[in-house]
Amino acid sequence: MSKPSPEPWRVKVVEPIRRIERAEREERLRRAGYNLFDIASEHIYIDLLTDSGTSAMSDSQWAGLMRGDESYAGGRNFYFLQETVREIFGFPHFIPTHQGRVAENLLFSTVLKPGDVVPNNTHFDTTRANVEVNGGVALDLVIPEGKQVHSRHPFKGNMDLDRLDRCLGENAGRVPLVMLTMTNNSGGGQPVSLENVRGTRDVCRRHGVPLLIDACRFAENAWFIRQREAGQADRPVREIVREVFSLADGCTMSAKKDGLANIGGFLALRDEAWVERLKNKLILIEGFPTYGGLAGRDLEAMALGLREVLNEDYLAFRVGQVTAFGEALAEDGIPVVEPIGGHAVYIDGRGFAPHLPPEQYPGQALTVALYQEGGIRSVEIGGVMFGKPDPARPGREILPDLDLVRLAVPRRVYTNTHLEYVAEVIRAVYRAPERMRGIRIVHQAPVLRHFTARFELI
Ligand SMILES: Cc1ncc(COP(=O)(O)O)c(C=O)c1O
Repeated sequence: MSKPSPEPWRVKVVEPIRRIERAEREERLRRAGYNLFDIASEHIYIDLLTDSGTSAMSDSQWAGLMRGDESYAGGRNFYFLQETVREIFGFPHFIPTHQGRVAENLLFSTVLKPGDVVPNNTHFDTTRANVEVNGGVALDLVIPEGKQVHSRHPFKGNMDLDRLDRCLGENAGRVPLVMLTMTNNSGGGQPVSLENVRGTRDVCRRHGVPLLIDACRFAENAWFIRQREAGQADRPVREIVREVFSLADGCTMSAKKDGLANIGGFLALRDEAWVERLKNKLILIEGFPTYGGLAGRDLEAMALGLREVLNEDYLAFRVGQVTAFGEALAEDGIPVVEPIGGHAVYIDGRGFAPHLPPEQYPGQALTVALYQEGGIRSVEIGGVMFGKPDPARPGREILPDLDLVRLAVPRRVYTNTHLEYVAEVIRAVYRAPERMRGIRIVHQAPVLRHFTARFELI
């Protein structure tokens, strides 16, 4: 097992956390309809629900908040952020939004026509929802290894280039853009290689289709490229990032991940063609294009975070911490997606609880068990999140290939000791999986049902 290196920061402010009693945890679960999204954070001990918007900001970012220029138009923080985005990603056009899904909403509501097809390595849930709500078809074309829990392929987030080529050929005129999500969140936080970005760009070019990157975890992806790809070991991460994005026509970004900010996002583009329409839409739904639904201080925090995330000591610790956590579980036989991803450890729910049939959502059952046992919050990325009614079998669902539980590690928040505690709780549940009960959905919304669904234990 790799040993995590010590934290490359020291603590200046503390936020107390508390583990409530087991009986209270069970009562809270019952009241929440066994949906961890519906439990107040004060009743969570270790919160691994998401790495999104949960980062601890640095002293420099907190100081930056005081430099917030809250003018309605043309505030200085906008220009600093614009310069930062140009410098890091190389895109001349930049539109701030208050989070990533608004960038997706703007993009797909502007460029997509009903019946259009959008290929991606794997759509994240908000990306898929934004494609589908605008009448598009979201296709996931990740390489086959990306769906195999135990494949040790170093870049399991790669796009399947043959399938992409065929897809663009068969759907000529109906593909407004291709996306690459890096790292590939819904497929286990797995990276995309530089070579694969080049290959994807070549296929897109041959078919005259723009390539956009979902850049949420761009720095972690670049770190993996440096660690794992031949010829990249001696390159500065900043340079790798620049090359990756030089191959694309634009990106959507949630700065709540590798922006090390608690809120923020953007859309950046090389070409002017869509910019005017996107800005008009932005004014309608977010605000003037120099603040995009954010306060000036948020723009400042985002700009500073984008610069800090490229610090290589930080990245070595960050990815190393998550790897050590995941490998410690794998060593004890717990079925985790390997190699370990960048921002999270993903447990294979079906492998963890083989006594539960896939229709009883073993992943969701595991999220319940981890809270019951140790006050830990995780999230299911499987049947509950992606299951769809099966038109051929009324009352049954088409379930996704993987039923995962994601333990997302917030950036700069938990120490190695916290993660050792989490590993201990997971081991305790694994030793007695028969105590885990299956799950039945009793209420669901028509889109993104996992946020608000209510369940019963079977
Ligand atoms: C890969 C990916 N894309 C898009 C988003 C959406 O970003 P946001 O939550 O800021 O709307 C997320 C958020 O988790 C994500 O992981």
